[in-house]
Amino acid sequence: MGKSYPNVSADYQKAIDKAKKKLRGLIAEKKCAPIMLRIAWHSAGTFDLNSKSGGPFGTMRFAAERAHGANNGLDIAVGLLEPIKEQFPSLSYADFYQLAGVVAVEVTGGPEIPFHPGREDKPEPPPEGRLPDATKGSDHLRDVFGRMGLSDQDIVALSGGHTLGRCHKERSGFEGPWTSNPLIFDNSYFKELLSGEKEGLLQLPSDKALLSDPVFRPLVEKYAADEDAFFADYAGAHLKLSELGFADA
Ligand code: HEM
Repeated sequence: MGKSYPNVSADYQKAIDKAKKKLRGLIAEKKCAPIMLRIAWHSAGTFDLNSKSGGPFGTMRFAAERAHGANNGLDIAVGLLEPIKEQFPSLSYADFYQLAGVVAVEVTGGPEIPFHPGREDKPEPPPEGRLPDATKGSDHLRDVFGRMGLSDQDIVALSGGHTLGRCHKERSGFEGPWTSNPLIFDNSYFKELLSGEKEGLLQLPSDKALLSDPVFRPLVEKYAADEDAFFADYAGAHLKLSELGFADA
């Protein structure tokens, strides 16, 4: 509320619109929506509200940040994105990676998320250790997302991002998808979570924490029953995530 966004030039806005089309093509061709959403989230999710450090400011362009344990595999995302980025030298990496996340959700059938350009690239990566640990529970999730300035509702809605993609043993130590359709953005993450563990599908300890917490669980039930409610809350939470530390009111 009350954010005032920077004015970007007409040429910059044109480059954003063109890059968005190129990203749609890339994501359709390579079926890489999941890792595009993951790079956008891991870029933004380092934000620290107190120090205003970290956040969606393009620092995943540095190999040093991709070497953080939580970012295993994100070299692949950067490698896929770089040939398009090279066509748009005027765009910040910060805008470009967040645009990729928004497009990934849109082209897989998820909600449209407003995109405001004008993020500037920061010169250095944040310290390691700010992203959530999948072996931990709700206190840890509240610590990590609270540090970003995000709410309980944001935690549950954003966790629905695991409707896309899968875990890879060689990247995280975990293996398998959360849903039977990991290239479709819908509310099936919440339905699967409530129906319990099944052959071939995975639930991380941090996913299961949403079931045992008295505030999180009713939201899981709501989103499983009402996809429109999930899409509305997801879009709001993703927008906040993508703008942490950007265009402060
Ligand atoms: C709540 C805390 C979270 C934890 C502990 C967590 C943990 C993980 C782990 C362990 C993986 C597997 C990585 C791999 O092996 O390739 C993963 C993948 C993924 N995460 Fe999360 N995550 C969290 C929140 C989120 C959020 C907020 C989003 C986006 C809104 C998200 C989107 C994804 C996506 C799309 C993948 C799949 C990537 C692929 O298929 O390559 N996650 N997450």
